[in-house]
Amino acid sequence: MQRVCIVGISGKLGRYMLRHALDRGYRVQGVCRPESVGKLAEYADRIMLFPGRTDDRAVIAKALAGCDGVLTVLVPFGVGGYATHTAEAVLDLADPGARLVFSCGWHISMDGKDSYSRSLRLQLALFGPIARFFRFADIDDQVRACSRVFASDRDWTVVRGSDLEEGESEGLPLWSEHVGDPILALNRTRRIDFALFMVAALTDPTLIHRAPAIVSRRAAASS
Ligand SMILES: NC(=O)c1ccc[n+]([C@@H]2O[C@H](COP(=O)([O-])OP(=O)(O)OC[C@H]3O[C@@H](n4cnc5c(N)ncnc54)[C@H](OP(=O)(O)O)[C@@H]3O)[C@@H](O)[C@H]2O)c1
Repeated sequence: MQRVCIVGISGKLGRYMLRHALDRGYRVQGVCRPESVGKLAEYADRIMLFPGRTDDRAVIAKALAGCDGVLTVLVPFGVGGYATHTAEAVLDLADPGARLVFSCGWHISMDGKDSYSRSLRLQLALFGPIARFFRFADIDDQVRACSRVFASDRDWTVVRGSDLEEGESEGLPLWSEHVGDPILALNRTRRIDFALFMVAALTDPTLIHRAPAIVSRRAAASS
């Protein structure tokens, strides 16, 4: 792995992934909204930025050229299919053979075998329609985006995050194939470690065509 593009580099997860990628000696480039370029000022001399929306295919084509790894933050903002169009652009335009890693939440299910707690189901049942009513976000957009990824024959991994918290790193998260596995009961991951898992997945061939649901390493002690 030599050159990595982070699609959604200016957000919280994106900036943690940027730090981990630089720590590994990767050359880093990224896409972020033009109004967010200032958030990356401290990295200006170490990274190449491509300002633009992450669903803008012209921007994505330029940003992904020459990258052997792509880390994509899938966010379902608005009701115009932002996440779906972002995923499609990355799948269509990344270099042949590039390793593609996407972020989402536990609510995404690859094979329908996840088992969700009543509180998570309630949260989704309430938040989904409210967010869509106010045209703020469309959770189904992230579901559609991940369906596109699951159907692709590219070398992808979809990393499914638990509830997130800030704080110092606790190390590489644990993971399971399915939500409902007792190891995931803690439902907490430090955002810095979510980013660590995303970056580590780039060079882990055992995660290709898998959708690990992750949790803090603390879970091993509490399970
Ligand atoms: N938050 C959680 O508890 C949680 C839990 C599980 C999984 N996840 C997953 O983790 C990933 C990162 O989520 P996060 O909550 O930590 O947020 P985040 O890293 O801060 O990312 C939010 C992203 O959305 C962009 N954004 C903000 N407003 C936007 C708008 N109006 N239109 C388009 N893009 C906009 C941000 O770009 P700017 O920098 O330009 O604002 C940034 O790239 C997502 O894939 C999410 O599904 C989150």
